[in-house]
Amino acid sequence: RTGRRQNQKQCWPRTSDKNFKTVSVNAWVEESEGEPGLVLGLRGEPYWLLPGKSGGIRNFALRAECTHLGCIAPWNEVQQKFVCPCHGSQYDPDGTVLRGPAPHSLALAHVEVVDKGNVRLSAWTEEDFRDGAAPWWS
Ligand code: FES
Repeated sequence: RTGRRQNQKQCWPRTSDKNFKTVSVNAWVEESEGEPGLVLGLRGEPYWLLPGKSGGIRNFALRAECTHLGCIAPWNEVQQKFVCPCHGSQYDPDGTVLRGPAPHSLALAHVEVVDKGNVRLSAWTEEDFRDGAAPWWS
């Protein structure tokens, strides 16, 4: 299981934006085994797709770059947190920052399932549902 996940990280599937359409939601749900999975999303940036609480996929994704200095913050299955390897910032499963030095929660994107079951990310410009503030990333 770990080996397969490492392979996925070396060759991330891509969600659809104006350039590409390649993540099938059904295939992603099956392969994710209930854990977040990295994809290339908006403008080719890395995003975490998140498993739904009762199956399927959540309707938001998290930009995987730590809000401190931009390292990719991996999902830690044991701790059930995103933990940045660079300086130790931590984020909960919704991307809310739990421990600095990261100054912000992980950036959000909307997730939609469009025709033929493909995942599409789109820009999140509304308030951040986690803290009610304007999005720091837009
Ligand atoms: Fe993540 Fe510094 S880049 S804690």
